[in-house]
Amino acid sequence: MEKELLLSVHDLKKSFGEREILKGISFDVRHGDVVCIIGPSGSGKSTLIRCVNYLEHPTAGTIDYRGTDVNEAFKKLTMYRTKVGMVFQSFNLFNNMTVLENCMVGQVKVLGKSKEEARTTALKYLKHVGMDTYVNAKP
Ligand SMILES: Nc1ncnc2c1ncn2[C@@H]1O[C@H](COP(=O)(O)OP(=O)(O)OP(=O)(O)O)[C@@H](O)[C@H]1O
Ligand SMILES: [Mg+2]
Repeated sequence: MEKELLLSVHDLKKSFGEREILKGISFDVRHGDVVCIIGPSGSGKSTLIRCVNYLEHPTAGTIDYRGTDVNEAFKKLTMYRTKVGMVFQSFNLFNNMTVLENCMVGQVKVLGKSKEEARTTALKYLKHVGMDTYVNAKP
């Protein structure tokens, strides 16, 4: 059976002023896929990822999430972003919080989880990546 189609990007274009950076990008992501986007510095990889998460608005093209146009269906982009996350090249951690608190804050503030639930999830994944001994450290 074919794996479920999660994300479908079709003919995506993005210009900054006169400069067209993305010139019609199309790709699919199915459940369980690992997709690598490779290209030289300045070729538009970050711009593409930012467009997929609507941090940049595409100039043209469509992005479907589970068969629905994101632009049409998700009036609240925060809902979409709970499903499609990204890690920035220059990411930020809160230096005044511990590793554990950094892993909890998004779950509590964005997803509305209880602190207990957020703590349990954070600990599970920190353990999974061998970071559980650092929970009380500052980043
Ligand atoms: N907000 C913006 N305004 C104008 N030009 C931009 C903007 N963001 C990106 N660009 C330009 O778009 C092009 C693609 O940049 P982008 O950061 O997407 O490349 P990249 O493939 O991620 O590069 P790197 O491998 O260095 O991370 C670059 O020429 C960049 O200067
Ligand atoms: Mg980049």
